[in-house]
Amino acid sequence: MNDKVFIFDTTLRDGEQVPGCRLNTEEKLVIARALEGLGVDIIEAGFPISSPGDFEAVNRIASEIRNTTVCGLTRAVKKDIEVAAEALKPAARPRIHTGIGTSDQHIFTKLRLDRDRVIERGVEAVKLAKTFVEDVEFYAEDAGRTDNEYLARVIEAVIAAGATVVNIPDTTGYCIPEEYGAKIKFLKENVKNIDKAIISTHCHNDLGMATANSLSGVSNGARQIECTVNGIGERAGNTSMEEVVMAMRKHNMLNFDTAIHTQKIYEISRLVSDTMRMPVQPNKAIVGDNAFSHSSGIHQDGVIKSRDNYEIIDPAEVGVSESSIVLTARSGRAALFYRIQKLGHTLSHEALEEAYQEFLKMADRLQTVEDEHLQELLQAVKVA
Ligand code: KIV
Ligand code: ZN
Repeated sequence: MNDKVFIFDTTLRDGEQVPGCRLNTEEKLVIARALEGLGVDIIEAGFPISSPGDFEAVNRIASEIRNTTVCGLTRAVKKDIEVAAEALKPAARPRIHTGIGTSDQHIFTKLRLDRDRVIERGVEAVKLAKTFVEDVEFYAEDAGRTDNEYLARVIEAVIAAGATVVNIPDTTGYCIPEEYGAKIKFLKENVKNIDKAIISTHCHNDLGMATANSLSGVSNGARQIECTVNGIGERAGNTSMEEVVMAMRKHNMLNFDTAIHTQKIYEISRLVSDTMRMPVQPNKAIVGDNAFSHSSGIHQDGVIKSRDNYEIIDPAEVGVSESSIVLTARSGRAALFYRIQKLGHTLSHEALEEAYQEFLKMADRLQTVEDEHLQELLQAVKVA
């Protein structure tokens, strides 16, 4: 029996903060329904005080989504919390996500407070949120750069105030996996009553470590991962949902799993990309166009003999119909023969050799050789 890791999706909040990704209420609803269908445990629907549009979107999502917790973000500010509570009123399972910066950088330069006052503000915020909802998550913003002893004091105080989930964000994407994992371990070992709350990861990708840091957090005691579809989010993005989910699924020995219906991953990736006008980079793990396409001769030959030679994921597992053999000037005879066979032709050894020499000339001219080019080529070498 695997340990459950809760998936907290923040595509509609952290993801939607990205310039150009702004969504209207109807678009947010479409994505929220798809996230519910995907099996995420929590949908962070927005930041209700930030605009009337975001309030409306959170409120509509809270009214419609019944099987998933719906969460609204706030600062540790009275008005924010009251407005979020109002937006979340119709929710079957509401959660308020409140918090404050805890690194010295944030305390002294951004908030212009001191360490003790930050703890008081966090505690006041959690207590106020608890008067509206049972499920209150606290975030220690910039926890990645927060001194561990002080962070432990903050987390202990907000758990005593009633926080059900404690979020340890690497807001600036600063940590490396050992460091982030050690931070979670330190909290596990040094915070009184830590087991009364779920520890959550929220990792940004500024050093390309978001997925690795989140998994390291889980290995050290976190049981919720905050993430987004396609890894969108502030600056270099947030932890990519599809990456953490598939890493846990593939590495069964980690003994962690999620409730995600992985066959829906590709579909929701396209939906988010299209709706948010945010293209997915071709080499993006799991959902990029090239994630299941093989283009060099050595790899193609291996994949044709057995998919397992170069594929660690069956594309169907994430909703991709099949992997592809892309014909380029780096392809070999095996790939050409395979594609010609798929078009319904069988070639003799001599005909294949002739076709291959013609193919190489063609491939040098074109980036990729498509089926229609192959048909022309077959005609030229007079293959039936
Ligand atoms: O990155 C961050 O710290 C956040 C918090 C608001 C949770 O997005
Ligand atoms: Zn964030």
